[in-house]
Amino acid sequence: MKKLSLILIGGGDRGSSYLKYLDGNSDKFELVALAEPVKEKREYLKEKYGVKEELCFESYDDLLAMPRLSDIAMICTQDKMHFDPAIKAIEKKYDLLLEKPIAPTAKECFEIANYAKENGVRVLVCHVLRYTPFYKAVKSFIEEGNLGEIMNVIHTEGVGIVHMSHSFVRGNWRKEDESAPMILAKCCHDTDLLQWLVGKHCTSVQSVGTLSYFCEDNKPEGAPLMCMDGCPHKDECYYYAPALYRLPTAEVEHFRAIVANKFNPSDEELDEILKTSPYGRCVYQCDNDVVDHQIVNMQFGEESFSSLTMSGFNKGGRTTVFMGTKGELRADMENQTMEFYDFATGTTKNVYSPDKVLDQTIAGGHGGGDMGIMEDLYDYIALDKPSFSISDIETSVRSHLICFAAEEARKGGKTVIMEDFIKTLG
Ligand SMILES: NC(=O)c1ccc[n+]([C@@H]2O[C@H](COP(=O)([O-])OP(=O)(O)OC[C@H]3O[C@@H](n4cnc5c(N)ncnc54)[C@H](O)[C@@H]3O)[C@@H](O)[C@H]2O)c1
Repeated sequence: MKKLSLILIGGGDRGSSYLKYLDGNSDKFELVALAEPVKEKREYLKEKYGVKEELCFESYDDLLAMPRLSDIAMICTQDKMHFDPAIKAIEKKYDLLLEKPIAPTAKECFEIANYAKENGVRVLVCHVLRYTPFYKAVKSFIEEGNLGEIMNVIHTEGVGIVHMSHSFVRGNWRKEDESAPMILAKCCHDTDLLQWLVGKHCTSVQSVGTLSYFCEDNKPEGAPLMCMDGCPHKDECYYYAPALYRLPTAEVEHFRAIVANKFNPSDEELDEILKTSPYGRCVYQCDNDVVDHQIVNMQFGEESFSSLTMSGFNKGGRTTVFMGTKGELRADMENQTMEFYDFATGTTKNVYSPDKVLDQTIAGGHGGGDMGIMEDLYDYIALDKPSFSISDIETSVRSHLICFAAEEARKGGKTVIMEDFIKTLG
C-alpha cells in the first residue's frame, strides 16, 4: 500500500483534527514536517506523530522555504492566512488539503485556483460535509432519480446560540476584516452542498441579513463589559460566560479547550480565564460586526430555486427540504433522517439508516466528515480514484462565489446575476 506523506501548516483545532485520522491509518499517511508558532501545540504534535525536531518550524515561511518534503501540504491556518502559504506550497508542487474558506476575497480564490491549474497541482478544499455518510446518502438518493427534477430547496444552517456566541460574537470569526464575511465563513459549506446536490451552476443570488441582536442596543441595564464583573443579569442571561461554558455538551467541551488553550480545563481554571478573556465578554458589548442572521435566495440553472437561512438563534443543525417533480425529501442532519414522500404511492418512508449516530458539531468531527475527507483524500491522491464527493478547486471557487455574490446582493440591496458578477471580478 502506498503511504502518502504530509506536511502540516497550522497545528490548531482543525489541523490536529484531521491528523486524528492517522491514529488508525498510519499505513496510509505519515506526518513528516509541521509549522506551528505555539510551542505547546508544536511539541504535542511532534511527539504524537514522531516528527523530527529539525522538521518542526515556528512558521510556514521556513517550512515552505525547504525543498518539497511530502506529497500533500495541509493548510489549516486562520482564514486570512490561507493565501500566502497556499501560493508558496503550490510553487513547490505540493498537492493541497486547504481549509475553507479558500481565501476571504474572490480575487485571491481565483489566484489560488489559477496558480494550481498552471502548476498541475490538486487542491482539495475542506468542505467536510460532502464526505459525511449522511450527505453522501442524500447525493446518491438524488442521483438515483428519486426526486425527478429538483424545483425548490429550503436549506437551514442553524448555527446554534452557543457556537454563534463563541465564534461569531466573542471569538475568531466575529469581525469581517479579521476573518471573512459570516456567509462565507459559516455557509460556504452550505453553498457547496447546494450546488453539489442540485447539480447545477448558480445563476442569480439575492440576500438580506443584519447584525441585529448581539449589539449594544440590546445590552440589559447595568451589564458590565465582562460577565464576571458582577453582572446583575447573570442568572437569566443565556450567554453568561461561566454558565455557558459549563453546559454539558461535547461542543462546549471543545470550546472550553479553545478558551483555555489546553485540553480539559477545570471549571476553576476556566472561570479565572473568563475574567479577562475575550470569551468572557458581555455578548452585547463585543467588537463584533458580522451578521447574526441572513437569508440567501439562489437560482440554479434556469428553474431550480433554493433558499438558505443562516441563523444564530436556535439549537444548531442543518435541515434541507428538496421538492422535486417526483417526490419530496426532508433531510435532517442533526437527527440523521431522510424522509421521502413519494408522489407515485402517496407514502412517506425514512430512506436512511445510519450505521451509528454521529455528532455533527465540530467536536463530533462534523458527522464523520473530518475523517471522511481524509479517507477520500487518500483514494484521490494515492490511488487516483476520486470518490463522487471529491471536488476540484474550480468547483469550490464557484460555491465561494455564491457567498461573495450574496454579500454584494445584501449590501447593495439587489439581485446579482452570477455571469455579470464574475465578469466584474475580471
Ligand atoms: N472545514 C471546517 O468545517 C472548518 C471548521 C472550523 C474552522 N475551519 C477553518 O479552519 C481554519 C483554521 O481554524 P482553527 O479553528 O483550526 O484555527 P486555530 O486558530 O485553532 O488554528 C490555526 C493555527 O495556525 C497557527 N498559525 C498562526 N500563524 C502561523 C504561521 N505563521 N505558520 C504556521 N501556523 C500558524 C496558529 O498558532 C493556530 O494554532 C480557519 O480558516 C477556519 O475558518 C474549518
